[in-house]
Amino acid sequence: MVRDEVLRALEAQRGQCISGAALAQTLGVSRAAVWKAIEKLRADGLAIDALAGEGYALRADDDTLTAEAVQAALVTHALGRALTVVPETDSTNSLMKRAYADAPHGFTLIARTQTAGRGRLGRTFCSPDGGLYLSVLLRPRLPLGQLNLVTLAAAVAVCRALERLTPLAPAIKWVNDVLVDERKLCGILTEAAIEGETGAIDFVVVGIGVNLRLDRTVLPPDVQEIACALADLTRDVPRRAVLAAAILGELETRYALLESGQSHLLLAEYRTRLCVLGRTVRVCAPQGSYEARVQDLDENGHLLVRTPDGAQHTLSSGEISIRL
Ligand code: BTN
Repeated sequence: MVRDEVLRALEAQRGQCISGAALAQTLGVSRAAVWKAIEKLRADGLAIDALAGEGYALRADDDTLTAEAVQAALVTHALGRALTVVPETDSTNSLMKRAYADAPHGFTLIARTQTAGRGRLGRTFCSPDGGLYLSVLLRPRLPLGQLNLVTLAAAVAVCRALERLTPLAPAIKWVNDVLVDERKLCGILTEAAIEGETGAIDFVVVGIGVNLRLDRTVLPPDVQEIACALADLTRDVPRRAVLAAAILGELETRYALLESGQSHLLLAEYRTRLCVLGRTVRVCAPQGSYEARVQDLDENGHLLVRTPDGAQHTLSSGEISIRL
């Protein structure tokens, strides 16, 4: 489609002017076709300036989330190379499992909003416009026992992307909440499909939701209390497409550590950002919740906690709360 090709050309030189004649020549179409494509892109909300006698420029600060914008910023080999952006879906994780389970390793789905965003432990994840809602399909060559490390890789990847693009120093609350000033900025939901006969991992969907700009009034009161958004914390809010590309880039390299048998390096990165070590937390277990002190993180990414009676417990999944 000429529209998509024009957008790719404008993205490749974002902020700079390209003449209609040059666009027409490079794409092998008429100037009228270029003009029509520009009108379509504008109707889709893209901020494109037309400068008399000079041409067209996609504004540097245009934050429209498109596949072209993400791919223009992408530096990966596999993750996000095949990418679909949808304006709205129920949940990018659900849509991935429903419609893209045969997609290649790295296929990525991004939605501008989710109507039924899903969180861990059956919770909902409020997903208004202004956030980033992304799911990546991975086909891990990992033993089943290392599956939980993929979640840890995603948490580290989000932190590293935010550290690169903003002045913030995010922290991780085990297992995979990314916090700033003890408030949740990002949630991660990892789901897997296991082959029935062999027990091998067929695919993993890593779903990541980041609050960039949040209209607090749409959040339920309990979420308002614990959530934060980038725009509340810094003036350097990256474009959603740039953040998506950075997360995919970091996830690819962190994930490569797992596949190359270097999970200790990933765990070291995770541990430096882990904000619960040495703290008393509330462990939410199926048989009830209890307070415990966090002693350590083991080589499997499990949390070692000690209860006041001196007993040590190893937490492999579940939930802890830092609000006692
Ligand atoms: C949590 O905090 O409990 C996990 C939240 C995960 C939210 C992301 S947004 C993209 C993907 N699609 C979903 O429905 N959930 C994940």
